[in-house]
Amino acid sequence: MREYLPIGVFDSGIGGLSVVKYIINNLPNENLIYFGDIARIPYGTKSIDTIQKFARQTVKFLIKQDIKAIVIACNTISAVALDAVKQLAGNIPVIDVISAGAKASSVGYKKVGVIGTNATINSHAYPNSIHKLNPEVEVISQACPLIVPLIEEGLIKHRALELICKDYLKALLDKNIEALVLGCTHYPLISDIIQSIIGNSIDIIDPAIDTCNNLQQILIKNKILNSSNQMISHKFFVTDMPQKFQKIGEMFLHTPMQHIELVTFEH
Ligand code: DGL
Repeated sequence: MREYLPIGVFDSGIGGLSVVKYIINNLPNENLIYFGDIARIPYGTKSIDTIQKFARQTVKFLIKQDIKAIVIACNTISAVALDAVKQLAGNIPVIDVISAGAKASSVGYKKVGVIGTNATINSHAYPNSIHKLNPEVEVISQACPLIVPLIEEGLIKHRALELICKDYLKALLDKNIEALVLGCTHYPLISDIIQSIIGNSIDIIDPAIDTCNNLQQILIKNKILNSSNQMISHKFFVTDMPQKFQKIGEMFLHTPMQHIELVTFEH
């Protein structure tokens, strides 16, 4: 019965938990396997070849766990390794955050800001995907490489994070954007700080919402949506520091993370 199989969700670290949160809330019957590559984060400052290699290793690991769908809960991987992931996944459906974020930002706006890691911004994946849907939208991009390390350290209440965000966002605010795409799955974890800097007149677009909707549609289409609420399990696998992952993860998910396992890859 494929519907009972878990959905594999992965990111370079804890950022993908912002996607997991939506999946748990909106698809509560689904079994989940989350993978965070804590040992090798950040991906966003690495080369395309390295990110693709890491993504392939993770996808092979997830496929071994017998999953029914793969969610790339990382913009950086979606930007530079989507094809590599799809190739390995074969018949397993792959859902990514950039297609979702592009869809949400292509309707109703003339000028959209996108923030993300160096790799995501340099790939131009967002403007390319948005323009395929609506060539009229002006997309202004800003790389924010220092935000991820601060969040991974759990420093979300630290003044340094606010100062860094203000500095990064200034360039976008000067251009009068109407919406801001959180093009890194770590950023929704600090959306309150971002919203307080940009003000309420600019919409925040969190691609996780449409990612979850796309996932639901694909599960329905493939007749693999889990209709039973028996024995639901959420398992988390990390490549380093499971305790730290648990501490910061529970802070974000507001729920105990019972099953956390350490995984090591051969290099
Ligand atoms: N969470 C990842 C993303 O959405 C980036 C973190 C990293 O640099 O590894 O892009």
